[in-house]
Amino acid sequence: MGYDQKLIRSSSRVKCRKLHLAFVTTCCCLVSVTLLVGYSVSSTKLSSWLWNHAVPAAAPMAGGRIGSQNLDKRELKPVCDFADARSVVCELEGDIRIHGNSSSILFASSSPASWQMKPHPRKDDPNALSRVTQISVTSFTADGDAPRCAVSGSTPAIVFSTGGYMGNPFHDFTDVLIPLFITSFQFDGEVRFLVGDIAPWWIQKYEPILTGLSRHDIIDLNRDDVVRCFPHVIVGLRFHKEMSIDPSRTQNGLSMLDFGRFVRRSFALRRESATKLGADRDKKPRLLIIARRATRVLENVDQVARAARGLGFEVVVAEAGRKTNLTAFARLVNSCDGMMGVHGAGLANFVFLPMNTTLIQVVPLGQLDELARVDFGTPAEDMEMKYLQYGISEEESTLIERYPRDHTVFKDPTAITKQGWTARRSVYLLNQNVKIDVVRFRDVLIQALEFLRQE
Ligand SMILES: *[C@@H]1O[C@H](CO)[C@@H](O)[C@H](O)[C@H]1NC(C)=O
Ligand SMILES: *[C@@H]1O[C@H](CO)[C@@H](O)[C@H](O)[C@H]1NC(C)=O
Ligand SMILES: *[C@@H]1O[C@H](CO)[C@@H](O)[C@H](O)[C@H]1NC(C)=O
Repeated sequence: MGYDQKLIRSSSRVKCRKLHLAFVTTCCCLVSVTLLVGYSVSSTKLSSWLWNHAVPAAAPMAGGRIGSQNLDKRELKPVCDFADARSVVCELEGDIRIHGNSSSILFASSSPASWQMKPHPRKDDPNALSRVTQISVTSFTADGDAPRCAVSGSTPAIVFSTGGYMGNPFHDFTDVLIPLFITSFQFDGEVRFLVGDIAPWWIQKYEPILTGLSRHDIIDLNRDDVVRCFPHVIVGLRFHKEMSIDPSRTQNGLSMLDFGRFVRRSFALRRESATKLGADRDKKPRLLIIARRATRVLENVDQVARAARGLGFEVVVAEAGRKTNLTAFARLVNSCDGMMGVHGAGLANFVFLPMNTTLIQVVPLGQLDELARVDFGTPAEDMEMKYLQYGISEEESTLIERYPRDHTVFKDPTAITKQGWTARRSVYLLNQNVKIDVVRFRDVLIQALEFLRQE
């Protein structure tokens, strides 16, 4: 039987008499299951078993707990976390062989185990996962059962996918770049990235970040037709929270402040902290207004810019597109003391701001306040920035040009929300522009100036 066929056979249905995930030798799982990680774990019993036995991401291997020093080293891992709401991560140690082109990972183990997973932290989103190649992970017992290593070494590897929603800066950071930072930081550059569903322009765009995390060339997983062997592999990316890092889940208290420092170093950004007002009276604080051209357009951006200038800001209006030179844009953002924009992916550029600057998010109608705060507000605060959220009034929404004022869209946004994400997105995110009432908005700008004075 061919190597590929063997994999297909063994991974499709697993009799998990001895599901040797983690270092547990006892087995409780008698049902025959297929672990379709990324979609569902077919037995709730099994998933709770895995949860109870998976070693938390940040904890060192619990050596000694079951006398692991007596076990063959290659029996120590895999350790998988299937319970996390957003990501599935498996860590393998020992003799691991990866054949990218057939999306297979094999690992030496005396107990048979096999599962499939999509190494992209959007487990709850079938649409994103439809663009992520599934990887099968299968054990082998005897050396001859697995293909021979064409390339081997001592460098560990991380396998992940840049499928999903890559190209949207919010997703670039929240789904891959920040999780990759969390997952790879421990290796201090001595790690190889095997990347599935690669888009060359994406790799090029984020090259400063990627080369900052790994000093080895990236392997294009789907087109890699050699067998590469590693002593240590992490499949999937660790995810903590939207656009951010939870220091309590990392080994050395890694935080968004570290990510900020890392990003500034990667792009050679000069400013660590905002300009303190007062010291130099001629120096005006710079406010960047992120323009949006297609949806959620700030229709009176000129008027807002004038109002900000009137209060003493120097104003820059810019928008980064897919083709924008990110290094140049990052420098522009870093030269500013504040950034504002209507809720949207462009706000992800806050990661380039110095510390102690202010992010102002303008939130359109449609009960988007909580979402807006989770996506950008809390992450900016985690990076020691000040955050101001401005919820627009009905008069500031162009929805009043489309719907009568007693329409459900205004009177009962919950009803629209209940119709599902597609309806909500269409009404409030794709077909609503914003015209800020500069008199009402003035207080927000003054508050941002106050923050700069306090420094
Ligand atoms: C990858 O595998 C497919 C068959 O599954 C084959 O047709 C293709 O040529 C391979 N590509 C490379 C670059 O090895
Ligand atoms: C991008 O901008 C930076 C900084 O201005 C510059 O050094 C670099 O050459 C630019 N890259 C490309 C591909 O234009
Ligand atoms: C930011 O501001 C706070 C006070 O608001 C101050 O304690 C902190 O040192 C500042 N951080 C930097 C990096 O300037």
